[in-house]
Amino acid sequence: MKTSCCLYPGSFDPVTEGHLDIIRRAAGIFDRVIVGVLHNPDKKGLFPVEKRVEMLRRVCEDLPHVEIIAYGGLLADLTREMQIPVVIRGVRGMADLESETAMARINGQLNPGLETLFLPAASGKEDISASMVRQLAAFGADLSAYVPKKVLPDVLAAFSKSI
Ligand code: COA
Repeated sequence: MKTSCCLYPGSFDPVTEGHLDIIRRAAGIFDRVIVGVLHNPDKKGLFPVEKRVEMLRRVCEDLPHVEIIAYGGLLADLTREMQIPVVIRGVRGMADLESETAMARINGQLNPGLETLFLPAASGKEDISASMVRQLAAFGADLSAYVPKKVLPDVLAAFSKSI
């Protein structure tokens, strides 16, 4: 099936330069990119979902074909409900590839026909993770290489409150 729409799902807690790179590249391939803040039950969140959505919207405001949504259910159900045929995931290395492949297979079983495409993390962005950002922020380190400038104050503020 040919398509012009994809879903880029994740926790985005918070959005990082690594995520933004994947969003920009997906927007260069697809006419419509839906960025979905989904729930990973294995992760204890820092930012409320509404705040993650709002930060993503700010970061993506110059990307007209990118929209941000939040969804509390299964990725397979979301893609079925919205008739989205392709999921994009960023992979940083072999460990990501292994776990993402398993997730892609399960999602394909739950929603037959759903395809997952992997984009390799860009050079220099392969070591960024949201948990690394949170840890650096907690110690007051410089985050400017890892977090989009537009949301840097929000990330710093979250930690200045909690220390
Ligand atoms: N560059 C840099 N970092 C990247 C990256 C890239 N290109 N791609 C991912 N990351 C990082 C993220 O920052 C994140 O870091 P963290 O683990 O420190 O938080 C990590 O890699 C992966 O996070 P993310 O992409 O947000 O995925 P996730 O594993 O947190 O969430 C969901 C995955 C939300 C898509 C998944 O849990 C889901 O689909 N949930 C809905 C319920 C469901 O359907 N479950 C069944 C799935 S089979």
